[in-house]
Amino acid sequence: MNYETMYYNMLQRPRRNRKSEVIRQMVQETHISAANLIFPLFIVDGNNQKTEIASMPGIYRYSIDNLLREVESCLKLGLKSFDLFPNIEEALKDKYATESHREESLYLRAIRDVKNNFPEACVITDVAMDPYSSDGHDGIVENGEILNDETLEVLGKMALAHAQSGADIIAPSDMMDGRVGYIREVLDNNGYTHVSIMSYSAKYASAFYGPFRDALNSAPKFGDKKTYQMNPANQREALIEAGLDEMEGADFLMVKPALPYLDVIKLIKDNTELPVAAYNVSGEYAMVKAAIQKGWLNDQRAITEILMSIRRAGASAILTYHAKEVLENKWL
Ligand code: PBG
Repeated sequence: MNYETMYYNMLQRPRRNRKSEVIRQMVQETHISAANLIFPLFIVDGNNQKTEIASMPGIYRYSIDNLLREVESCLKLGLKSFDLFPNIEEALKDKYATESHREESLYLRAIRDVKNNFPEACVITDVAMDPYSSDGHDGIVENGEILNDETLEVLGKMALAHAQSGADIIAPSDMMDGRVGYIREVLDNNGYTHVSIMSYSAKYASAFYGPFRDALNSAPKFGDKKTYQMNPANQREALIEAGLDEMEGADFLMVKPALPYLDVIKLIKDNTELPVAAYNVSGEYAMVKAAIQKGWLNDQRAITEILMSIRRAGASAILTYHAKEVLENKWL
């Protein structure tokens, strides 16, 4: 081949736009900042508790006093959105998750305390029965079946209790049919029209929730979650879920997990005008941390590349356990 003539008329040389840092930044297509990040936080009963979760290095369960300190230190870094999850004692769990809407429960106290101390913080609350269910499922169990419509009633009570405690955004993570519309109606009928819903629209039955279930001690006591969470093989089904949530009044549509489902984030983004959120889940965090601890990956480069990929796929908001470290280390 005659290379000299072949290259003579090469009008497009994409490398020209990569030749200096200034130009690389000028043409950068995707950006990420603290405003895009939501930090999940685990809460446990007691005082002065801060225990690390073995499979999630750097992530802790906090008692409410320490939770407030943690929120304060995040706010100072510009990290202002938090998604709270409770670790509930086994003795308080039951078939109907009644602890989830008891006025003085750990979770509702935590919401009130965070909002009273830091009104500027955006508090996102998780609506699902599993942390409070003696069956470890996201719905009421009857003869081994997860009941849909009966569960909606519990979810409605839980969402209302969160709104009454000061939640800014309610995030139903249970995957029961019709729950967004049901919760919207309960909130509206009680004067909480201003409280938002971030729906876990496409939540897959994933292996990557393992460390989270350790953190909350919330693994199912029997079976799996495949009759309500989605089959990892399906993409088009995510559009059905997203379309329903949009019609039912969701303000955000979430995809979960994030990295194994970047195609789903992109698909939903291309088919909605609503903002899309993605949950970079516990197992994704654990994998990266383990490789970093072994010295197999560079922390800054691996973590920022992962978060950028989720933004690039179309997520406006990213729920990630990396949120605080990327800001503390000034990696963004
Ligand atoms: C429960 C819930 C789960 C997560 C968030 N809410 C676990 C599950 O569905 O079993 C997982 C989050 C993570 O793994 O980081 N409704």
